[in-house]
Amino acid sequence: MNHHDIENNWTEDLSRQFMDYGRYFVPERELQMHLIAGLLSDLDPKAFLVELCCGEGLLTEVLLENHPLFTILALDGSIEMLDKAQHRLSRFSKRCQCQLFDLASDSWRGFKFSVDAIVSSLAIHHLTGPLKQVLFQDLYKLLSPGGLLIIADVLEVASMAGRKLAADEWDRAVRQRSFDLDGNYKAFEFFEREGWNMHRHLDPNDIDKPSPIFSQLKWLENAGFIQIDVNWLLAGHAIFSARKPLD
Ligand SMILES: C[S@@+](CC[C@H](N)C(=O)[O-])C[C@H]1O[C@@H](n2cnc3c(N)ncnc32)[C@H](O)[C@@H]1O
Repeated sequence: MNHHDIENNWTEDLSRQFMDYGRYFVPERELQMHLIAGLLSDLDPKAFLVELCCGEGLLTEVLLENHPLFTILALDGSIEMLDKAQHRLSRFSKRCQCQLFDLASDSWRGFKFSVDAIVSSLAIHHLTGPLKQVLFQDLYKLLSPGGLLIIADVLEVASMAGRKLAADEWDRAVRQRSFDLDGNYKAFEFFEREGWNMHRHLDPNDIDKPSPIFSQLKWLENAGFIQIDVNWLLAGHAIFSARKPLD
């Protein structure tokens, strides 16, 4: 199946907005990155990783700092994000390469080298459910035996009551973060005004296509993964992981 005809609706305006506001809007952002770094600790110290949709390279940087022998291929579809990532990661140039790609396309889904882990933060929710399923199958094929997949992403919350809880928790986290960083609520007011809280304002025509955690765990199992876990969850955002069996 070729996905080239599927539009990448992410724009450079969104990149700029996310670079400005990500620090407020991503719940427990630093904690999430450190948890992901910790989950990778049982890999070969010289592991080769691929990061899907690295953005401005914040997670890449944490992983390279915490694992001094890892090598990472960091992929993203935004030139502005990649420029910023390249700048941020310049001191790791021997262990890190940044490249343009389209997540929905299958043109990048065949590496000539073995991949020990694939990580992605806040990006796979831009694919529809069926495209996520194909992606999980392709990622399984790309990983070497024993390889690890770690996804941090925003979820579709299945029940109405659960959605309200997640929406309220997300508001609470952004409000607190606005105050902690700036001593005022301006970033939270922007979050509200722009309808960023997709647990409350999800528009089916929007670029966000979050899927329920239970569906995604089943798709991972169907793709052949084992050791499927939810490692962390807050405000309708989760880190979940899975491993390709050794044989
Ligand atoms: C919300 S940002 C997250 C960035 C980074 N992973 C983080 O957690 O800070 C989403 C990222 O996904 C990238 N992206 C979205 N759709 C994409 C696509 N179809 N192909 C490649 N990159 C895409 C954007 O360029 C952006 O960098």
